[in-house]
Amino acid sequence: MTLDVERLRADTPGCEHVTHLNNAGSSLPPRPVLDANIGHLRREAEIGGYEAHNEQRERVEHTYDALARLIGASREEIACVENATRAWDMAFYSFRFAPGDRILTGHAEYASNWIALRQVAHTTGATIEVVPDDEHGQFDVSALERMLDEKVKLVSLVHVPTQGGLVNPAEAVGRVTRAAGVPLLLDACQSVGQLPVDVEAIGCDLLSATGRKFLRAPRGTGFLYVRKELIGELEPPFLDMHAAAWQPDGSYTMRDDARRFENWETYVAGKIALGVAADYALELGLDAIWERDQALAARLRSALGETPDITVLDQGVTKGAIVTFRVAGRSAADIRAALAAERVNVSITEAESARLDLDERGIDEMVRASVHYFNTEQEVDRLVALVAA
Ligand SMILES: Cc1ncc(COP(=O)(O)O)c(C=O)c1O
Repeated sequence: MTLDVERLRADTPGCEHVTHLNNAGSSLPPRPVLDANIGHLRREAEIGGYEAHNEQRERVEHTYDALARLIGASREEIACVENATRAWDMAFYSFRFAPGDRILTGHAEYASNWIALRQVAHTTGATIEVVPDDEHGQFDVSALERMLDEKVKLVSLVHVPTQGGLVNPAEAVGRVTRAAGVPLLLDACQSVGQLPVDVEAIGCDLLSATGRKFLRAPRGTGFLYVRKELIGELEPPFLDMHAAAWQPDGSYTMRDDARRFENWETYVAGKIALGVAADYALELGLDAIWERDQALAARLRSALGETPDITVLDQGVTKGAIVTFRVAGRSAADIRAALAAERVNVSITEAESARLDLDERGIDEMVRASVHYFNTEQEVDRLVALVAA
């Protein structure tokens, strides 16, 4: 199915104002998402926050169904939280590691995840080991297979890294971790909303995602998936009266579903809008979105690659919507500022957001242009012309 780009742009108020090539940062929400968000905020102001929540309970509950459908899970396996980092943390800090336990990660690891890994390794005596990349710069599945043993308690994989077009071979990794009986925690922050993500097909046990990027939901929204069989084994690092219940004898009992990873007070308007964003993506179809995102990014990558003084930095066999590059003799900040003056949004990725990868490749910063299906070929070409100029 091909997407009706004109209609989708008319449905995106931001398209009138900017050429938005920062969808890996925070995308432009479509009108139904914006309306749901603002509509609920207005209702809160009209009748009160708790009252508006009661009135809209079905819509809030629908968000769990929509997110579950989006990733091939069931609603009991979904927790809505503030962002991808909090989702990842709630999953990761629920594991009880002991001295000598091994945690495996990859070169694409994201800064916040790495910091959490280091903190937990320091406090528990677990070790972190980095699975090498293969010759394409992606997570080496054969190396993972060789590294697995009974001491490995968790594998952390970034599906699509913040720093490039790479799409890691999540399904191949999932086949290996599943066969070994080792939980796989998938950071799907940049992949959900960009490409089809199915937790069963991948074989991951935990998945973290954010709302504001390729899903086009409001900022301050995200979610966690935890496989049903694992929920009962994991005690979250924080529990409140929503996640657990205070019993008359002073003890507490945790919820049976993934909402044990949530907290009580929440951004209800954002949560409703997150469900609308998931419905929107589902209605367009993730296959169609993925096809168009890949085509736009390939066009951009190839045109930049043919432009003098520009080096494209993306790796991997399968490449997605994120295009990273540098321009000889110009800082990334210069490029971003020059583009911003033309109302073209891109972002900068610095080494400290993904040191395992970027330090090894000797890259201290790069320009990141990230397309999404509502962008046009003309916008992509204009970016190339502006950078060339
Ligand atoms: C790969 C990856 N993981 C995690 C995150 C963190 O997401 P959030 O800012 O929603 O916590 C990002 C953000 O850019 C990311 O690119």
